[in-house]
Amino acid sequence: MDKNTDFNDMTARKILCIGAGYVGGPTMAVIAHQCPDCRVTVVDVNAERISAWNSETLPVYEPGLDAVVRAARGRNLFFSTDIAGGIRANDIIFVSVNTPTKTFGAGAGMAADLQYWEKTAREILEYAESPKIVIEKSTLPVKTALAMERILNSRGGDVRFDVLSNPEFLAEGTAIRDLENPDRVLIGSRETAAGLAARRVLEDIYARWVPRERILTSNIWSAELSKLVSNAFLAQRISSINAVSALCEKTEANVTEVARAVGMDGRIGPKFLNASIGFGGSCFKKDILNLVYLCRTYGLDDVAAYWEGVVAINEYQKERFVLNMMAAMFNSLAGKRIALYGFAFKADTGDTRESPAIFVAERLLAERAEVVITDPQALPNARIWAQGLTDRGAGSLFETGAGPKIAFVEDPAAAAAGCHALAVMTEWPLYRGLDYERIFRTMIQPAFLFDGRNVLDHERLHAIGFNVYPIGRPPLTHF
Ligand SMILES: NC(=O)c1ccc[n+]([C@@H]2O[C@H](COP(=O)([O-])OP(=O)(O)OC[C@H]3O[C@@H](n4cnc5c(N)ncnc54)[C@H](O)[C@@H]3O)[C@@H](O)[C@H]2O)c1
Repeated sequence: MDKNTDFNDMTARKILCIGAGYVGGPTMAVIAHQCPDCRVTVVDVNAERISAWNSETLPVYEPGLDAVVRAARGRNLFFSTDIAGGIRANDIIFVSVNTPTKTFGAGAGMAADLQYWEKTAREILEYAESPKIVIEKSTLPVKTALAMERILNSRGGDVRFDVLSNPEFLAEGTAIRDLENPDRVLIGSRETAAGLAARRVLEDIYARWVPRERILTSNIWSAELSKLVSNAFLAQRISSINAVSALCEKTEANVTEVARAVGMDGRIGPKFLNASIGFGGSCFKKDILNLVYLCRTYGLDDVAAYWEGVVAINEYQKERFVLNMMAAMFNSLAGKRIALYGFAFKADTGDTRESPAIFVAERLLAERAEVVITDPQALPNARIWAQGLTDRGAGSLFETGAGPKIAFVEDPAAAAAGCHALAVMTEWPLYRGLDYERIFRTMIQPAFLFDGRNVLDHERLHAIGFNVYPIGRPPLTHF
């Protein structure tokens, strides 16, 4: 094998990750922790984010992350803004930059915006002086590796690049557990001698802590597509049970009982069958729309329509939740004060990207309700969202004659005081253990409780005096 392609002479690996976000930071922290002889550097254009990674307050909240970072940082884990130096000094480069939905031009609202990814490819080309294995960690449309190869090889082949696809399957909130004990690691490569050799290098890194039988290899296009399909399947289960929840509400069936009966079928399984206000997070909607766009691009309109339905049901479920609130509260929300329990898109994260709570809050504000937001981790992001509303010219939403329309309160019991209703947006376990008798007494009567996650004890809350509206179950009211 020519020396340009031989990565096997390296005993200690020098690894770079471009993009220090929710994926790049935790993923590299776990690699550094598991492979003390590898030197891992994470770089980002965002200097504020890098200094947070170098501080005591990490930019990402994940259970277990602090301990892993503390163990490896300064030893074999480094965070830096020196992208050019990082590219020069390292042999294995993960690309973990954001790939949001395009907001402009062709494919707006659907296709992946690949500008950050392409900029990274061009930077690797500009600064690389020695052979590199370039690994797609970001979620990308199938066939993106081809574009990566074309950019990297556009200089005429003086430096060898091998491109791999290694999509990340971690879930926020359980990222460290998922990274330390993954269901599977997927590595796609070109099936050439050089591609297979590069794939073995990455397999050997993961094999330090992941059992070999859980390290799957495939051709590069299958790897890229598997990530989009995984997220589409996960979101599809949520939309399926949420669609059923609407029917349950009309028929006095109980969606929890239906989900239990359905999920005990071994072919179906019980996970991801909790009816809720809908899915959020930066990935599901974006990745499904990306899949839909790909299908349309290839002329597969029926396949596109099938997957688009998963997103449509999710939008329907969020809107249905707000309309149910309004119907329950005498068809008017104007001037009513509503506490939102949780603003993160799920428990155990501070991430609010695409959070259903954002949708609900904006709809409530549009109905001229007042919104009190509480969340154990997401208040900083909630404040950024509120600031964004002001910047978008929605400042009038904040002021009524009676006072500010959006308030942020850390203590959930205090958040509910003086409210007409509580709405559970995020399944934080702490909401199960609150003193609801005391909370009830501080609220305006009749007090309403809308459980958007079906996590509270509805019978008990009803006995306390609340009018309780779960998802997919008959409401428990005092009228
Ligand atoms: N968040 C998740 O749960 C999750 C899970 C699996 C896969 N993914 C995928 O991983 C990718 C990253 O997601 P994320 O949630 O970490 O995003 P993020 O926005 O948190 O982080 C991306 C980072 O990349 C940086 N960046 C952008 N362009 C850059 C450049 N040219 N050079 C250096 N840094 C640059 C940004 O400043 C940002 O800090 C996306 O493709 C996403 O779809 C995310």
